[in-house]
Amino acid sequence: MRLRPVPALRAATSLLAPLLAALLLAGPVALAQQQSSIHPGEVWNDNRGLPIQAHGGGILQRGKLYYWFGEDRSQGLDPALRYVGCYSSRDLVHWRFRRRIAFADPEGIGPNWILERPKVFYNNRTRKYVMYMHLDGPLHPSEHGYRLAKVGVAVSNRPDGPYHFVRSFRPLGHESRDIGQFVDDDGSAYLIFEDRPYGFRIAQLSADYLSVEREVALLPMHLEGGALVHWHGLYYVLGSHLSGWDPNPNLYATAEHLEGPWSEFRDLAPPAERTYGSQSTFLLKVTGSRASSVVFLGDIWKPKALWDSRYLWMPLQLGDGRMALPSPQPWSINIKTGETSLQR
Ligand code: GAL
Repeated sequence: MRLRPVPALRAATSLLAPLLAALLLAGPVALAQQQSSIHPGEVWNDNRGLPIQAHGGGILQRGKLYYWFGEDRSQGLDPALRYVGCYSSRDLVHWRFRRRIAFADPEGIGPNWILERPKVFYNNRTRKYVMYMHLDGPLHPSEHGYRLAKVGVAVSNRPDGPYHFVRSFRPLGHESRDIGQFVDDDGSAYLIFEDRPYGFRIAQLSADYLSVEREVALLPMHLEGGALVHWHGLYYVLGSHLSGWDPNPNLYATAEHLEGPWSEFRDLAPPAERTYGSQSTFLLKVTGSRASSVVFLGDIWKPKALWDSRYLWMPLQLGDGRMALPSPQPWSINIKTGETSLQR
């Protein structure tokens, strides 16, 4: 005997069938686009359905668009070049691939030259996009290593390039490896850089952003992956210990003025969690109609498969001069109100 579907079931199936068929046909891209939350540590695909390549990155907001820049570590690229991925988004969840920005060895450093942690500022006066990068390499082309300890500067008329390399230098004459970026509420722009012999420096950029002009603070702590945010009248600086690609307990300090005095450094999360396997790269403040949230942007590095390194983005708990990273879980943000919600 053949079973016939009951009428109600038949109606439901006929309604759902086109939807299911459309989803199956559209594939993973469409499914990813429908997600409205951020899933720390999971593969994060762009509008093409390809994993976002923006490691050690930073965010630049222009109007309603957020741009995410970072190291593009895709496999199969030209080994002589280094790449910066540029993506844009309106909601911080869905990212549109804009461009893979390629750089050739700007100073004849040799095949093992290094471009890491690119950060882009927009200069209102010159209307230029100014990219800072950690530029490094060995002293001899046949070697490996981080001996040059410089920053490189590149400029563009558009956020997604093309970028024209301007020059490289040691900021204020100091060694500079990991860099971080900060733009204060008054629009002044700062570079945070790790100066191996001394500590963590915060320095203001020149009016055209093409050079580093004035040291604001030296925090005598050996930290990298530097990030900074100003929230409810207090500055929070954040960084990781120097353990290469391996995660460690990231620390933060606070101050009422950028110049200091800065508080003692405190743990961002329970130290045994080693920042949940991640390393800081940026602090993103989202100010909406109801709240101002700060999001921790971290990298979960996979040194043997850098292209598969993941991102740990989580809204921070802030208040009473404390900053805490909750355990990773899916979460969402309302860009208009600035409110975030954890989903577990
Ligand atoms: C980390 C640094 C990364 C990269 C790595 C290389 O400490 O934050 O950007 O330089 O070392 O080992």
